[in-house]
Amino acid sequence: MSIETPLPMTNRILVTSALPYINGVKHLGNLVGSMLPADVYSRFQRQRLGAENVLFICATDEHGTPAELAALEEGLAVSDYCAKWHTIQKTLSEGFGLSFDYFGRSSSPENHALTQSFAQALWEGGYLEERTTRQVFSPTDGRFLPDRYVIGTCPHCGYDRARGDQCENCTRVLDPVDLIAPRSALSGSPDIEIRDSKHLFLKQTAFEVRLREWIEGKRAEWPSLVTSIALKWLDEGLQDRGITRDLSWGVPVNAAAWGANPSGAKPDVEGLTGKVFYVWFDAPIAYIGASAQWGKATGGDFESWWRGEAARDVTYVEFMGKDNVPFHTVGFPCTLLGVNDALPPAAHWKLVDELKGFNWLTYYGGKFSTSQKRGVFMDRALELLPADYWRWYLIANAPEGSDSSFTWPLFAATVNKDLADVLGNFVNRVLKFAVARFEGVVPEGGQWGEAEHALAKALDQRRTQLGDLLAAREFRKAAQELRAIWVLGNEYITEAAPWTAIKTDRDKAAMAVRLGVNLIHLTAHFSSAFIPASAHAIHTAVNGAVDLLPWPGGPIADELTQIGPGHRFAVPDLLFRKIDDAQVAAWEAEFGGEG
Ligand code: 2FM
Ligand code: ZN
Repeated sequence: MSIETPLPMTNRILVTSALPYINGVKHLGNLVGSMLPADVYSRFQRQRLGAENVLFICATDEHGTPAELAALEEGLAVSDYCAKWHTIQKTLSEGFGLSFDYFGRSSSPENHALTQSFAQALWEGGYLEERTTRQVFSPTDGRFLPDRYVIGTCPHCGYDRARGDQCENCTRVLDPVDLIAPRSALSGSPDIEIRDSKHLFLKQTAFEVRLREWIEGKRAEWPSLVTSIALKWLDEGLQDRGITRDLSWGVPVNAAAWGANPSGAKPDVEGLTGKVFYVWFDAPIAYIGASAQWGKATGGDFESWWRGEAARDVTYVEFMGKDNVPFHTVGFPCTLLGVNDALPPAAHWKLVDELKGFNWLTYYGGKFSTSQKRGVFMDRALELLPADYWRWYLIANAPEGSDSSFTWPLFAATVNKDLADVLGNFVNRVLKFAVARFEGVVPEGGQWGEAEHALAKALDQRRTQLGDLLAAREFRKAAQELRAIWVLGNEYITEAAPWTAIKTDRDKAAMAVRLGVNLIHLTAHFSSAFIPASAHAIHTAVNGAVDLLPWPGGPIADELTQIGPGHRFAVPDLLFRKIDDAQVAAWEAEFGGEG
């Protein structure tokens, strides 16, 4: 990975969020573990760089057994099942204001083609090996059992419900045959046979040195959560990984199209017939596949975001939960390094530049569970309250440094204090008073005094910190900083008290209202990445409807005087409704609470 010429200053940002599995509605933990923070970050970068300089991509992850089994349960063909659930997930993500430039599908023709061409390049480069593997076959279930449908005891940590693909307790990637006391997750039957089956393995070991060098180089930049997971993997010694499966739903292995590998060997076309690529092989490629779908839909040049010279000004930022980190620090980089080896540098695919990993959001310290009806899922959440309430709570309490726990009392307290008491109250007090006493027109009179200068100075510092924290993807701290900006506005107006001043000093009241309206206007801009619908409503009331509210980066005195005397404004409809104790109790009863 030598760099031939110095990199230009980045002026474009490519953002991907982990791809939600197709089966079922995602819960709040899935949302805050990748899609929501990726959205806040993308929105912020669009504010800074302009929308055309950000590409934010996500997709449904549609292959693998869970989709097959869920389709079976719903009595649908798996392709129909996936089409149906893709639409549901797309609608829900729009409901949450997730501003993907494209929400694609891992089952798209674009992803099929890319996955097959990457596999071919890996074979012809000598990075794939055929092996006859022992596969778990369940006579009771009448089928080969995919990795995750074999459960047993983890040979590393002793966890007794480890899945055959990964132990969720110690995060180690497993092979089903490693499990102690394996049994079928479908029928629970311990009657399982091992049968021979031909499969392709990616020789990850061939990339060990390059991977280590790459990850060591990221140590200073990436969160330690991410580098420690990646290095733990390397320290334990990389394993070659099977990238094909005995399933019918997936990207077919197209070995007939492949040439010889460097040893002159052709693939065993017959032995590989009827196999598909492993879902974890094609899912990361779907980041590129969905970008290709975006290109097709919009006429955009997706390769200019992903490849070689054209993408040299692009910084690629990935968001994901910690369980995905191994696949993106080891598995997918191996694929890309291997594919790139056959290409001139000017055509190399980009490896991730920045990787933000998240811990878990728990529900009262435990798991969200569809089957046990525990916790809040995206569909119900939107039926209860507008997206911004959830967005704010989740980002302000994002599981960054450690796991964090959703509870209804904390949710209600956060909404009531931050959104209703601080932001909503500030906007309402100023605008209602100004409409009552100045007829909805920004008044003239008065001039900046000590309080206004102090406010400007404090706001200047806070916006720098807010921008730096968002750029650094420190979401909890960024939310605190934004809240501090709302508090500044509230404190200023409380002290200036135009409602009192108006009785004796009209100019003083006019000054406070004028600055108040400007502060509200800037608040809409600063808040728009976090709570886009509310920010839009505020902005529309004070300064008209605008799609993208740019980052207010000019001299602070100019920013605070943009809206001058004579400007008309309105009062937005009620911004935030408070959540009372009775409501909290009712939701705890409905969704499960303590214990
Ligand atoms: O963990 C998950 O939910 C996976 N569906 C994430 C895939 S991310 C990427 F690799 F595609
Ligand atoms: Zn504006």
